Amino acid sequence: MQKITYLVFSIGFLALSVSCKSNGKSKDMGESISVDSLLQVRYQKLLEYPADSMAFPRSYTDSTKTIRKTPSKDWTSGFFPGNLWHLYQLTGDDAFKKKAATWTSFMESQKHNDGTHDMGFKIFCSFGEGLKITNDSSYAKVIVESAQTLATRFNENVGSLRSWDFNADEWEFPVIVDNMMNLELLFEATKITGDSTYYEMAVQHANTTLKNHVREDNSIYHVVVYDTISGAVKDKVTHQGFNAESSWSRGQGWGIYGFTMAYRYTRDTTYLNQAMATADFYLSQENFREDGIPYWDFHDPTIPDAVRDVSAATVVASAFYELDGYADNPKYLAYADRVVETLHSEEYILPEDVDGPFILDHSTGNWPKNDEMDDPIVYGDYYFLEALLRKQGE
Ligand code: GLY
Repeated sequence: MQKITYLVFSIGFLALSVSCKSNGKSKDMGESISVDSLLQVRYQKLLEYPADSMAFPRSYTDSTKTIRKTPSKDWTSGFFPGNLWHLYQLTGDDAFKKKAATWTSFMESQKHNDGTHDMGFKIFCSFGEGLKITNDSSYAKVIVESAQTLATRFNENVGSLRSWDFNADEWEFPVIVDNMMNLELLFEATKITGDSTYYEMAVQHANTTLKNHVREDNSIYHVVVYDTISGAVKDKVTHQGFNAESSWSRGQGWGIYGFTMAYRYTRDTTYLNQAMATADFYLSQENFREDGIPYWDFHDPTIPDAVRDVSAATVVASAFYELDGYADNPKYLAYADRVVETLHSEEYILPEDVDGPFILDHSTGNWPKNDEMDDPIVYGDYYFLEALLRKQGE
């Protein structure tokens, strides 16, 4: 393991002097510290957060100064263990590894939870990241058992894994673009076992998504609803975007990341071409903020007053570091570097006095529900840390 403690940002960045701010409001703390030191403070907050299997940190509400905590069944629960695995890699500090293993163990019961497609987010971000680092065979076993559970959600007629079970009166068989992210678990299960069933299921799901989720301009619908008998598309809607035809930023990110990852496992250039085409759509948006962090939806009519979504930027940046390895165009790397540079600032890194295990502010979880708006969210941090690792070639 490459030990790069405290050097994460040292190349290419100026050590800026900052005064701490509280929830977007500047507050003079008397003594300023460098952005790099501020990051180390934030990393320690993750380490110090007390282990509790019922209290996975999901987000921080700036307005009430409270941590939103969830049990392991929540779709976001795998990200916190993943953040600790990432921080172990970034710092080389064994304390992160120990905590990561503890939090990962809290996730194991989820391997039997067949009520969700989010198995990949939950198990791959925890056990999957742990496996890469420890090569622990018990982690591999959990991944395979989780893939077996996820596979029960596959419908042959549709050629997809079912995403959600809620709203069943209206949506017979909903598939969301986010579900592309869960394919990594299936691809890995085939690598571990040699059983191609998981791989074939992942390929079918990716092909169905490619066929039905992608618009002519290569932007991506959030939800496609299918008929379970004929497999026909019944509806194309949104749940988290501005409206059915808008482009929810994080959804574009899930698509770009998902197709890039599908190319990694299959070497099918159809996926690579789609990843690049959707990436090009994303980069071509007129409504882009100058600092590279997108508004939560490219079609929110209140832009430039709309909220931004750091998590969309970090998902895309991380995907772009991978895409850069496959694509013959420097623009993906340039955008990823720009995001990392933008986020390396007092505007985005939480101040020292925020008492919660999070790093970055200004993510937006669910705008239509007015939920987790412009706040620190665990998956914004996860893809940020992953982007840092990918930037340095890990
Ligand atoms: N996968 C749910 C979300 O992106 O909010």
